[in-house]
Amino acid sequence: MKTLLTLASLTAAAAALVVAAGPADAKDYRLGLITPPSHQWTITASEMAEALKEETNGDVNILIFPSGQLGNEAQMLQQLQTGALDFAFLTLGEFSNRDPNYGIFLAPYIVDDVAGARQLLQGETANKLLDQVDQFGLVGLGYGMAGMRQIVMADKIETVDDIAGKKVRTIPFAPELDFWKKLDAAPTPMPLPALYDAFANGQVDGMQIDFEGTWNSKYYDHAGTIIESNHMMFPMIAVASGRSWQQIPEGDRAKVDDAFAKFLDELVASYADIDADYLAKLKGTDVPVLTVDRAFFGDAIDDWYATWREKSPMLVDLEAEAETIKN
Ligand code: BEZ
Repeated sequence: MKTLLTLASLTAAAAALVVAAGPADAKDYRLGLITPPSHQWTITASEMAEALKEETNGDVNILIFPSGQLGNEAQMLQQLQTGALDFAFLTLGEFSNRDPNYGIFLAPYIVDDVAGARQLLQGETANKLLDQVDQFGLVGLGYGMAGMRQIVMADKIETVDDIAGKKVRTIPFAPELDFWKKLDAAPTPMPLPALYDAFANGQVDGMQIDFEGTWNSKYYDHAGTIIESNHMMFPMIAVASGRSWQQIPEGDRAKVDDAFAKFLDELVASYADIDADYLAKLKGTDVPVLTVDRAFFGDAIDDWYATWREKSPMLVDLEAEAETIKN
């Protein structure tokens, strides 16, 4: 009897251990991104991870590391290549600096709005570039985007000449830097976490940013003008490490693929309302909002296209696709 009890308690203890450890195939994966917890990219990543965990009964548990906790995008790209990081939501900066074709989405006014961006990001050229991330040892899982790009300046701005000579914060993205150089401004690459202080203490005179960040990070505190320009789309690319991807059981890979596709498309679509809501909030502040269109920038935009059609041959294909979806 004594032996039987001991066996029974041993069996119960073993069962408890299995429950504590989760299903036999359960694995924690890591997804890194640079945006803070309040940003829609991070919110979407967390919601997607939760849904995937449920869908796979805990087999796929993606842990989210926001705010560049795992490093900047260059460092995350290296980790993805070695398999030290499994997934990431990345801007196209690191890609475009290796292959200029990834910069074509920053073509000024290539789309009018979020609806146009959503269509273009599902088009043939975008899909080709998504597949081609295998050249970096990655698997492309889809595109997201942040809000349309706007401009926030410390001074009062009336014409584009008021921007000439000003230090404008950008990301270190060659086509973006070139846009500002063509406006005779001084593009100043700077990571998001450094931006509030740099703007507050005059290290930069303005920034290219979205309404979401302008409101959530309170950049408007030190602004003299918010320029509603909608002049560029700002895609995000969701990728998996090629090495990690091979280790994921095939059935789970299909579920991961589906979840990324669904949540990323919802993310892109959500930016129409996100942009409108944050613009309305910003209009409630004391900072004047100047609404401009392509004409505001003068010849700089035509110059930009002339340069980048040569540097990034796929731009011409993207322009042709964009023509078919313009209002
Ligand atoms: C930025 O650096 O401006 C940025 C990066 C990610 C999401 C939104 C904005």
